[in-house]
Amino acid sequence: MAAKLTSSTLLHHILNKHHFPARTFPWRRVGARHCASFQQQKTQYSNHGATSSWDVQSYMPEAAALSNVQSYQELLDISVGDPETFWGVLARERLTWVKPFQMVKDCDFTQGRVRWFLGGQLNVSVNCLDKHVHQCPERVALIWERDEPGTQVNITYRELLDTTCRIANTLKKHGVQKGDRVAIYMPVSPMAVAAMLACARIGAVHTIVFAGFSAESLAGRINDASCKAVITFNQGVRGGRVTELKKTVDEAVKSCPSVKHVFVAQRTDNKVHMGNLDISLEEEMDKADSVCTPEAMNSEDMLFMLYTSGSTGKPKGVVHTQAGYLLYAALTHKYVFDYKQGDVFGCMADIGWITGHSYVVYGPLCNGATTVLFESTPTYPDPGRYWETVERLQINQFYGAPTAIRLLLKYGDDWVKKYNRSSLKTLGSVGEPINHEAWEWFHNVVGEKRCTLVDTWWQTETGGICISPRPSEPEAEVIPAMAMRPFFGIQPLLLSENGKVIEGGDVSGALCIAQPWPGMARTIYGDHQRFVDAYFKTYPGYYFTGDGAHRTNEGYYQITGRMDDVINISGHRLGTAEIEDALDEHPDVPETAVIGFPHEIKGETAFAFVVLKENLSLPEKAILEELKSIVATKIAKYAVPDHIMVVKRLPKTRSGKIMRRVLRKIVTNQTEDLGDITTLEDSSVITEILEAHQKYKMDKPGK
Ligand code: WT7
Repeated sequence: MAAKLTSSTLLHHILNKHHFPARTFPWRRVGARHCASFQQQKTQYSNHGATSSWDVQSYMPEAAALSNVQSYQELLDISVGDPETFWGVLARERLTWVKPFQMVKDCDFTQGRVRWFLGGQLNVSVNCLDKHVHQCPERVALIWERDEPGTQVNITYRELLDTTCRIANTLKKHGVQKGDRVAIYMPVSPMAVAAMLACARIGAVHTIVFAGFSAESLAGRINDASCKAVITFNQGVRGGRVTELKKTVDEAVKSCPSVKHVFVAQRTDNKVHMGNLDISLEEEMDKADSVCTPEAMNSEDMLFMLYTSGSTGKPKGVVHTQAGYLLYAALTHKYVFDYKQGDVFGCMADIGWITGHSYVVYGPLCNGATTVLFESTPTYPDPGRYWETVERLQINQFYGAPTAIRLLLKYGDDWVKKYNRSSLKTLGSVGEPINHEAWEWFHNVVGEKRCTLVDTWWQTETGGICISPRPSEPEAEVIPAMAMRPFFGIQPLLLSENGKVIEGGDVSGALCIAQPWPGMARTIYGDHQRFVDAYFKTYPGYYFTGDGAHRTNEGYYQITGRMDDVINISGHRLGTAEIEDALDEHPDVPETAVIGFPHEIKGETAFAFVVLKENLSLPEKAILEELKSIVATKIAKYAVPDHIMVVKRLPKTRSGKIMRRVLRKIVTNQTEDLGDITTLEDSSVITEILEAHQKYKMDKPGK
């Protein structure tokens, strides 16, 4: 193995254009089958220095530098008790710096101020690419598991660097500069990953918009971020269906004056209309230089922003910065999943969500891993897809969402058992609470009871996993369906309604985190006050997650769900207010209230109460259909409520606030105890809604 690369030699290497020649153009390989010699490569780079008996130094080589830590517990203690030393040592050792940092942190939760590794400079794409290309250029970085089974494409680190540099040079040529925002509207693919890294290379800020969002949602995000460019595909392919990505972008950019260029890559051979703003990405890449000098970025410069829903208002652009985010993503990827060099890491998430950012792209690539880009769906072409992929790609860590597990469970064990899953070592779950039945099935059937299954709790805002059963002392117990233990440096705690810290076991409260960690969000783009208000105001001095949790007598954490008006549909977060705003646009709908409602597969779905005008322009049924289509157009298809119930009035307090808590009780048939309804303006509204709900259930049996 090559000697450890120092920042200065690496920079020298890059600046002198001593570069690895491009032999192929990976972005051209749309139809290719290219998976040979992967096993060969795997053996070559597998598992250096692993020991059979656990010792802390081989587990975390930095342990010696951390006051000679001897055990896992000591490691955990120092991470929380002396975060400056812990994170300082890890940042120095695990990241490649252009300029060393002077100060580990400067944080003050009361101001919402979070800054790490000040004075330091680095480039994230260098840490994810050049570092590995220097040591092992032919290692596979990405396995693009395309929609059609058996058509995967392998991309080496050398190829990914080449592609990244060409995109970076293309962006630069067309005026994209350091600090500019670039929207990426692409499903998971090597081109999308290279686009992210290309932004990182030149210091532009990417904001990925999930390719299932509507034109209007896309436009809202582009405008909020004042994006200068958009990168997209002509079309997308998923579950055997083609999606019109470019058309959606065309529709969106009509109302986005900041956009100067739309770069269009080809996912299919079909031609799409190319207008004034449009540039063929591949054509430009062919002409571009395959070397691009990385920008030296300050630790706290923006790396990306990602829009997510809050309980009020429009989606917020959660900002993550360079060094702290990357370090945290890489460290959690390594330790939560017990990733070892040579492993094939399979996170099924789309890059449109934070899980895709941290565990498809940045964490695995920073660690020099081989990471799977899953383009398809769990049921295409049949419900065995995941496990057939596991067998074919020899996936070692499989990270998925409870909603997919619940769906597959329904199809029975045969679809799983048909395939050899002996490569699997760790299974992970993320995005929403995983119910016992799904956990047991995932663990017993998929993992044959021999894989560790980790229920990982975190958020867009936390940047990486914060609570999960691993890491922990080897052999420590894992309790089903529970996130359990904090990661290094994370200090969870529960607060009561009156803002007091709740001590002891078998207690519940608002889940907060007591001190900063490098991966956490820094601000909300363009609205720092909203950042302070949303996360640091409810419980001054603490980061408030928005979730409730229970702590057991053993000190383990069990997440109980959101405490605000945010719902979680198939692991995707949505503010009920966003759906209400969309529904309210209908001219015949003066008022609505949306709440979360349990759903067998999706976990939660939206339940909308709508008040209609007296004299309708159309029959009620037609209006309900229009309402569904409004939500799909304004937000996305997944946001469309499964239930829309017409009511005469909504339950309101005397001050005019809608009492959603009463609606929640009614739809879940907890009508015995509706809680305190003394503040209701008119309590007869309850009887009215109860009657309407009875009728609704009769018309729609099973609800
Ligand atoms: C919210 C964050 C983290 C990446 C995907 C979602 C819920 C997330 C769990 C879990 C129970 C979970 C929380 C959280 N959540 N993971 N393991 N158990 N709930 O990211 O869209 O930012 O949503 O998802 O409610 O606050 P996100």
